[in-house]
Amino acid sequence: VKASLLDILACPLCGRDLALRAEPSVKGEIVTGILECASCRKTFPIERGVPRLSVGRELTRTSRGFAAQWRLRRNRRFERAGVLYGQDVAALVAWLFQTCLGDADSTLPWMLDAGCGTGEKAIACARQHPDLQVVAMDITDACDVWATASAGAPNVHFVQADVMHPPFKPRSFGRVMSWGVLHHTPNTRTAFERAASLVSDGGRLVVWLYPDPREDALAAAYYRVRDRHFLGIGHKLPNLLRFWLVRLYTMALAPIFLRYFTRVIKPRYRASGYVRLDNLTFFEKYNTMTFILYDNLTPEFQFRHTRDEVKQWFEAQGFGSLQTDGLGHHWGQRVRSAAALNRGDASQAASDSELARAF
Ligand SMILES: C[S@@+](CC[C@H](N)C(=O)[O-])C[C@H]1O[C@@H](n2cnc3c(N)ncnc32)[C@H](O)[C@@H]1O
Ligand SMILES: [Zn+2]
Repeated sequence: VKASLLDILACPLCGRDLALRAEPSVKGEIVTGILECASCRKTFPIERGVPRLSVGRELTRTSRGFAAQWRLRRNRRFERAGVLYGQDVAALVAWLFQTCLGDADSTLPWMLDAGCGTGEKAIACARQHPDLQVVAMDITDACDVWATASAGAPNVHFVQADVMHPPFKPRSFGRVMSWGVLHHTPNTRTAFERAASLVSDGGRLVVWLYPDPREDALAAAYYRVRDRHFLGIGHKLPNLLRFWLVRLYTMALAPIFLRYFTRVIKPRYRASGYVRLDNLTFFEKYNTMTFILYDNLTPEFQFRHTRDEVKQWFEAQGFGSLQTDGLGHHWGQRVRSAAALNRGDASQAASDSELARAF
């Protein structure tokens, strides 16, 4: 971690400043140290270069499941590097910037990937946008093992923390993305509000959330696998058993999945440019399918939301210019209030207008 990250870090418990006690940095990286809250005195370690700022224990089953999933990926049991969920990571990130994040009306360099998993998307963001400082945050330590992969991207910062207790000052980020994460917490809406609170005025927020089955037939089929075929208990299985069951299941249903690829998935994503299934061999498609199904079963919570519901969450947090691609991505820009423009005091005015809305 670099010392510059301290500008935006805050105690995940009380929100106050954190003071750093660290051993001398190695090439600008702080590898070992302690962060201490100036107010509540709680301390958080920096280990192997990553500040460990998680609090609470409510997510242990989900985080253990995802940690195992990312270990399996690292051990090449799923897709190859650069391909995740059958998507080309670099192409998806380029699409996100073109469509959702690019013209944020904010000069803040900080961007957050909340629930980054291995951090591959965050690393791609940092590589494609060297002018940004990208924070990759996950509740697991999955990004640790991938941190070495970011050696070529000096503008990535890894943090282990819970999106329900984000260790950042409010409105520190000009761009926040949270891809496939918030619906895995005990309360998607609360998680959304916590992520949204980190976005500056004029900043952009993009989330990918599981669609409501009534609005998305493909998602509905996918949920049937979790809820019916695996009886809703996939997340309770030991990680390796889940892995082998998914492999068997995928093998048995391979002809159906291949038909799905050509008939449903290809036309659906044709315009997007980031799903490049044509470039994958049969075995790569098989691995993609096992990964996607494993990912479906891993988390304890998997809530599904309608487009209108998500739109209302954005609006309630003061976001405008709302858009969705109808495939699970939703994005918007935090409205810059007139008072903020006049006073040049963005954060104060924004909290004023939030208060005004509350009463
Ligand atoms: C479906 S994966 C998506 C990962 C990544 N965004 C990507 O696109 O590859 C969900 C991720 O959310 C993380 N996660 C779940 N609950 C979280 C929480 N409360 N705070 C932070 N991360 C969380 C999991 O550890 C997991 O890595
Ligand atoms: Zn504190």
